[in-house]
Amino acid sequence: MAQATVPTAPSMSSEEMVRLAREHTFFSWSVQGQLDPIAIDHAEGIYLYTPEGKRIIDFNSQLMSVNIGHGDRRVIDAITAQAQKLQFVQPAFVTEPRARLGEKLSQILPGDMDKVFFVLGGAEAIENAIKIARHYTGRYKVLSRYRAYHGATFGAMTLTGDPRRWPNEPGLVGVVRYPDTHRWGEKDPRPVAESLRGLEDVIMYEGPHTIAAVFLETIVGTNGILIPPDGYIQGVREICDRYDILMVADEVMAGFGRTGKWFAIDHWGVTPDLMTMAKGLTSSYLPLGAVAMRHHIAAKFDSMYYSGGLTYSSHPISLAAALATISVYEEDGLIEHAAAMGPVMRRHHEALAARHPSVGTHRSLGLFGILDLVRSRDPYVPLTSFNGTSDEMKTVGKYLRDHGLYTMIANNSIHTNPPLCITEEQLAEGFAIIDGALEIADQAVTG
Ligand SMILES: Cc1ncc(COP(=O)(O)O)c(C=O)c1O
Repeated sequence: MAQATVPTAPSMSSEEMVRLAREHTFFSWSVQGQLDPIAIDHAEGIYLYTPEGKRIIDFNSQLMSVNIGHGDRRVIDAITAQAQKLQFVQPAFVTEPRARLGEKLSQILPGDMDKVFFVLGGAEAIENAIKIARHYTGRYKVLSRYRAYHGATFGAMTLTGDPRRWPNEPGLVGVVRYPDTHRWGEKDPRPVAESLRGLEDVIMYEGPHTIAAVFLETIVGTNGILIPPDGYIQGVREICDRYDILMVADEVMAGFGRTGKWFAIDHWGVTPDLMTMAKGLTSSYLPLGAVAMRHHIAAKFDSMYYSGGLTYSSHPISLAAALATISVYEEDGLIEHAAAMGPVMRRHHEALAARHPSVGTHRSLGLFGILDLVRSRDPYVPLTSFNGTSDEMKTVGKYLRDHGLYTMIANNSIHTNPPLCITEEQLAEGFAIIDGALEIADQAVTG
């Protein structure tokens, strides 16, 4: 592991950073007056450091994205070298990182996916996947689910089914929803046949000839690490084939080793028609996203005009960061390591569930994991309402922060998605802090 950031002495205190940033910069997903951000000076491996030197475990890889861990010298050097050689050419030109990364991705992508369109992040990947699907099929409807997040740009926000969509409506014309694999507030997923019948019903009612694509997060991320039961992903593929509709797998969060395989869809041996990626592609060292497409879809654009583009498409420095990041996954065996750490994380989840009545259920695949907290296991009553929070969850969040662990807390859930380079000892360190926080949640248990 080549972790070697060289921290220089911070010239600002946490207090100063927070004050100025709050005064002059706008924060996403927030009521600006209620913010209490953490100031970070530098980071290494799984640890973040404040300007005052307080160490914080990053148990969520920031936004499930710094998969290789922080401060990896190999990626920093690749970024520096590319910046010294060629900073930018517009996307009609080609560069060595573009040639190499395109080829490399086609080797690790599922099935016959062998062409990628480079953008700057996940939402842009989704926007372009919508366009590619519409151009390719000549149809305009796109299907997505309620328990889904696909990004915050206009089209991606409409595809997003969760409440982050509400204030942004009305959205894109032609987005239709189909049933989720998991109902909110229930412990177990729906039977596969029921979920698939729901999708097929929607296709029938909408008219298959009007539908360009079915979008899905292969494993739903921020809406609860919802792992589809075996057979579901294969079933969606089969339905899309039967009705000649494109299947678009959103692997922005689940891709790049998070689940112990390059892509989550590899667990089910399915090749989607289009696949979106971002986050782990550069481990967030620089912004980059991509849409991958199957050979026959790309081939259609050999003679058909694609009406879409971005100034920063195929930005050479981001592409150099991605190439180096992929080398790190390979050199350090991080995909295999995530697979090996999967059972270790699951054992921690099981131990916490055995000790704490507030743990209603837990889900994980590789290092993609979550604990759902409840007031009561039977009947199953989540510790928050849908799209809500509760005093107990706020106290749990405060405990974790006070004890030096950062992770995502959403609704009644504690996410556990550390960088893939995490060791068994470091996993134990993180879960020991969560163990302490759950004592608080246990006090709310009534049944
Ligand atoms: C599954 C999924 N798709 C798309 C996005 C949007 O990516 P970005 O924030 O890079 O635009 C996200 C972001 O969290 C995501 O989790």
